[in-house]
Amino acid sequence: MTPAERIDYLRRELHLHNHNYYVLNTPTITDREFDAMMSELQSLEAEHPEMFDPLSPTQRVGSDLTKGFTQVRHVYPMLSLGNTYSVSEVDEFIGRVQGALGQKDVTIVGEMKYDGTSISLIYEHGRLVRAVTRGDGEKGDDVTENVKTIRSIPLQLQGEGYPEMFEIRGEIVLPWEAFDRLNREREINGEPLFANPRNAASGTIKMLNPAEVAHRGLDAYFYYLLGENLPADNHYDNMQAARRWGFKVSDIMRPLHSIEEVDSFISFWDTERKRLPVATDGLVFKVNSLRQQLNLGYTAKSPRWAIAYKFQAERALTRLRFVSFEVGRTGVITPVANLEPVLLSGTIVKRASLHNADIIKTLDIHNDDMVYVEKGGEIIPKITGVDLEGRAPGATEIEFVKNCPACGTELVREPGEAAWICPNKYHCPPQIAGRIEHFVARRAMNIDGIGEETVGQLMQMGLVKDIADLYELNYSVLTSLDRFAEKSAQRILAGLEASKSVPFERVVFALSIPFVGEIVARRLARSLRNIDSLMSATTDQLVGIDDIGEKIAESVVGFFAEPVNRDMVDRLRGYGLTMSMPEEEQEAHSQRLAGQTIVISGTFTHHSRDEYKAIIEANGGKNSGSISKKTTFILAGENMGPAKLEKAQSLGVRIVDETEFLNMIGEGAAEPDAAEGSELSLFKEL
Ligand code: IVH
Repeated sequence: MTPAERIDYLRRELHLHNHNYYVLNTPTITDREFDAMMSELQSLEAEHPEMFDPLSPTQRVGSDLTKGFTQVRHVYPMLSLGNTYSVSEVDEFIGRVQGALGQKDVTIVGEMKYDGTSISLIYEHGRLVRAVTRGDGEKGDDVTENVKTIRSIPLQLQGEGYPEMFEIRGEIVLPWEAFDRLNREREINGEPLFANPRNAASGTIKMLNPAEVAHRGLDAYFYYLLGENLPADNHYDNMQAARRWGFKVSDIMRPLHSIEEVDSFISFWDTERKRLPVATDGLVFKVNSLRQQLNLGYTAKSPRWAIAYKFQAERALTRLRFVSFEVGRTGVITPVANLEPVLLSGTIVKRASLHNADIIKTLDIHNDDMVYVEKGGEIIPKITGVDLEGRAPGATEIEFVKNCPACGTELVREPGEAAWICPNKYHCPPQIAGRIEHFVARRAMNIDGIGEETVGQLMQMGLVKDIADLYELNYSVLTSLDRFAEKSAQRILAGLEASKSVPFERVVFALSIPFVGEIVARRLARSLRNIDSLMSATTDQLVGIDDIGEKIAESVVGFFAEPVNRDMVDRLRGYGLTMSMPEEEQEAHSQRLAGQTIVISGTFTHHSRDEYKAIIEANGGKNSGSISKKTTFILAGENMGPAKLEKAQSLGVRIVDETEFLNMIGEGAAEPDAAEGSELSLFKEL
């Protein structure tokens, strides 16, 4: 085989295995085999630059080049759909279609309405040539580089029968699991949370750095094929063909033959959709026959052959008692609506986020208003509107505070940012308390026994003014605290002592450098190796590290430019905290999993699947894609596939859950924990 043939072969194989893994969820080779093929292809491509192909499987990682987007005109305008919240209006739609076509025999295809951001892909000769956002419907942004990082989207089609050139439309979504992970990361980094997966998906696809896009875990479902010479004369069969070419087409799609079938499709999915791995906001009903579609035509805005039925968001009406303003660890002021308790999707809601000053203005909320509360992204309830009928005459507008509710400092707002911030970083009590609580948290220094209340007491008595002061605490000081037992004092002192051997990467995380979450901290620690290099790193040097963008780099440089922070770090060093990575440690941490073959299945909370693969290898274990007699155990997350479960049981292979596994490798007790004072934790009590 010539190198060119080998490159060709590897590309085809890798495209196929990508599809097996990301679309069909059934890998047929192990990850190791996949990685071996990928690295062989990478080196062959490096040796033969003349064979460069922008659609090679090696190009999915996303280049770090940052560039704006070019606007592209759509070949066929991207219209929207007429929509309704009522089943009887869907029935009327079917009646209208039957009337206009003059026949009862009209097949309707029922499918999910995915709640993400729409995308149009153009394929020529089976290769992806362009991906464009909806934009204004006429023109959109060319986001091809970002779309290429979505692994379930085929770069090169499989099978045959696809037209020489066609367009396929679908929805880019951020699955719940990836959405939750992203928000957890943002919470830790003190960044504003995404309200729902739709905002997160549309924000992500417009990010300027494809490498960051690749990180976020987007997925895409396809629902509409356009072009000449399509394989079939109806929508359903065309979509099944698209699935064979490699697209992710939902298997929820059903041809329906009567109003009764349509209605039962609605009532089934109204509740069942909550189990899906991605957000949906309704169903779409389309006339199946393309000829009938053509006959029905379009209004100015939408096709007459389709309608969207939207699910009713769960919402409740209650009275606003007052708005409080809370200060987080990073100084961001979050307005919180304190409500008369109300039942919403099974939980009692007393508080809801008002996000920021702009949202209060847009909603035009007044004191004592009757407000609608919704579970939007299904995590933090939010206020979505006001019932004006319930407004008392003379009610006054809600005013956003101008000064910090905790320390009185005048608030500031960066141009273009929504958040008001208290700039008094080093003397504003809740900010200090937030940083101390973050420092002692399990995933940071893991110092047991110091909760919110203890931090409050220690600060009130003037014993602790920053994190370094914790190491000055001693037995007599602690036992002099109100209601403080000897045992608790001992526990804290032991915790402080033990924290001196917490690895450097967690020390970096514990410092509360803005935008430095767990993952970024690990990257910084592993590439700079010790605190002196970190403190003296320049922005240029920092952006050279994987995953570190300009914003993070500037934040790190800014943090260490402040004498208070340098002094604090010096004190921490003096107390004996770990300020460098161990010499011998590079990637392999331990041999705890030596000789073990582990299969990963399902979805996880604490790390991504890729991270678990890396963790297994770093601990000397072997990761394998399929279960056999040789499998030592299965690392099983949520929603492990039934086939795998059955196979594991029949071979008697042990199943280990995420918590047990983390304990095995010494990362135990890793519940996503409190970065107190930040948005998510504020709402834990709801
Ligand atoms: S069909 C001409 N099918 O909903 C009709 N759209 O309000 C093209 N969407 O912009 C759209 N799931 O972003 C269609 N199964 C589905 C859909 C779907 C989600 C989105 C799409 C579109 C919007 C219409």
